[in-house]
Amino acid sequence: MTSGGDSPGMNAAIRAIVRTGIYRGMNVYGIRRGYQGMIEGDIIPMKTTDVSNIICRGGTILKTARSKEFMTDEGMEKAYVQLTGNNIEALILIGGDGTFRGANKFFEKYTIPAVGLPGTIDKDLVGTDYTIGFDTAVNTAMEAIDKIKDTAEAHDRVFVVEVMGRDAGYIALYSGIASGAEDILIPETITDIEDVLNRIDDDERRKKSVHIIVVAEGDDFGSAEKVHESIAQRFPNKDIRTCVLGHIQRGGSPSFADRILASRLGYAAVNAIYEGKTQVMAGIINNEIVFTPFANVVKGAPPMHSDLLNMIRVLSV
Ligand code: F6P
Repeated sequence: MTSGGDSPGMNAAIRAIVRTGIYRGMNVYGIRRGYQGMIEGDIIPMKTTDVSNIICRGGTILKTARSKEFMTDEGMEKAYVQLTGNNIEALILIGGDGTFRGANKFFEKYTIPAVGLPGTIDKDLVGTDYTIGFDTAVNTAMEAIDKIKDTAEAHDRVFVVEVMGRDAGYIALYSGIASGAEDILIPETITDIEDVLNRIDDDERRKKSVHIIVVAEGDDFGSAEKVHESIAQRFPNKDIRTCVLGHIQRGGSPSFADRILASRLGYAAVNAIYEGKTQVMAGIINNEIVFTPFANVVKGAPPMHSDLLNMIRVLSV
């Protein structure tokens, strides 16, 4: 099952799970539309050929959803009835923090062996260095910012670029560093807008004409629009533009890194089920497969690397 926001590489994970499961002699089924499909019994048998030619495709062939009903006791009970009625003996869940919060609650009450895979562009889960889809999303954002820089330079403009990340600034941090942005505003640190404005002022005095500010959508100061307004107030003569990258960051063919991560984790998850592991998320830390209990996965995002935060100030002069 894939659940929550889709991420590039989910299909590669589905392919690995289906094929490893069949190799292990299991009957493999797909639950469509996440927890909502579980509640409604939208469950389909899957063969090796059903996952042909999907390793390179973004989105998820199983479709996905954010189910409010599953967060209720009645919804969870309906889901459990569907699972037992369909003789489902183990679950593999691919998703982000919402998926694992749901799983954590569900398995407090119902016992079905379950292993999770980290599938989110946000990279905000404990228990893995990278999540499936993050690398592709960062590359998409980086390429977009590179293009924005060309036009910003042509017009001597300040650009505010908003990237995804409701609660996490990893996409902003990595795409901003990779594209040489002047400022990166993320929810994990307190944004000092005066400081940002002073840096624009400094740049102007040094005749540096382009200033790119990457803002995570969940930044504590506010959205890109709010940052734009503050700049316009302080510098009424500046030419400022805002670009919200939005859902293009979620789509597209997964990068090689996401395809390999998804394949390794899908393969490991089935083997973990086979070995009797349960209620753990498979992740990769320092190139080794590790399993983290669902309860720990949702304990908050891994801390931001302070080195990276300090580095931005030095490199973006
Ligand atoms: O969780 C992944 C994510 O892409 C976040 O970065 C973003 O805030 C959110 O999903 C957007 O969700 P939706 O597709 O429901 O608008």
